[in-house]
Amino acid sequence: MKLLGEVLNLSIQYLKEKNIASSRLVAETLLSHVLDLKRMDLYLRFECPLEEKELSAFRSLIKKASLGEPVEYILSTASFYGLNLEISPHVLIPRPETEILVDFVAKFLEQDVEGKVLLDLCSGSGCMGLSLKKKFPSLSVTLSDISPDALSLSKKTAEKNNLDVSYLQGDLLSPFASKKADYVVCNPPYISEPEYESLDVSVKGYEPKLALVGGETGLEFYQRLALDLPAHLNPKAKVFLEIGMTQGEALNKIFSNPCWVKKELRQDWSGKDRFFFLEIE
Ligand SMILES: C[S@@+](CC[C@H](N)C(=O)[O-])C[C@H]1O[C@@H](n2cnc3c(N)ncnc32)[C@H](O)[C@@H]1O
Repeated sequence: MKLLGEVLNLSIQYLKEKNIASSRLVAETLLSHVLDLKRMDLYLRFECPLEEKELSAFRSLIKKASLGEPVEYILSTASFYGLNLEISPHVLIPRPETEILVDFVAKFLEQDVEGKVLLDLCSGSGCMGLSLKKKFPSLSVTLSDISPDALSLSKKTAEKNNLDVSYLQGDLLSPFASKKADYVVCNPPYISEPEYESLDVSVKGYEPKLALVGGETGLEFYQRLALDLPAHLNPKAKVFLEIGMTQGEALNKIFSNPCWVKKELRQDWSGKDRFFFLEIE
């Protein structure tokens, strides 16, 4: 019979040999899932034997991870800003940068949330709209995406967390008709076709291309938003966009209409331009 510590160390070594990033974190996350333990508690059980069925369940998860499948797809879940999200290969795995964006937005919303409407465009897993609804229950939130599969997945997360939000399906702002918002959050697909070709297998091999590529240059969604957003915004509405780290200058040009009375480029924790905030007149 194999001991937990021995199995864990062997699996970390195996993942390292397969060039899997964060191999310790991956192995510990998968083993704690199989044993229904917190990761920290694994260390208290290093000398405990694993049952054959636990070992075999762990082996099959490690096999998937060794091929590059992200842990979030293997376990069908991801944690984001205090929310456990349902995850499937129909949606992008939420990134830490998007959590930074939600934190920025939450600070703005603290000042003024009563009776306000927020749209989460290109909502995917629903990470932004749902976590903001959880933090600000009186905010009216609508999520939209072109992918019906992404929408039904985020509906599951909303139901599990008792979050009362609305959903619209369709191409960018087309399902919004005459609806208007006070806040818009959007993390659109922003990778260019050439960049997509050079992505790591853990992204290109598993995450949906629909969620990643924003046309030949990666800027297509921002260009469409610059044209279409003003008709869907209340006076003084604020827009919070995630952008690629080299796109700041282009965004300033794309949103050149004088109706935008404030424009601000913001950085992530490593100092890279990753967010673009706007306010309309
Ligand atoms: C970069 S992902 C962002 C998902 C999520 N908001 C997040 O931050 O993790 C972009 C999302 O845009 C959706 N999408 C792609 N093309 C679209 C379109 N034309 N109209 C609306 N949504 C679209 C994709 O299905 C995907 O869920």
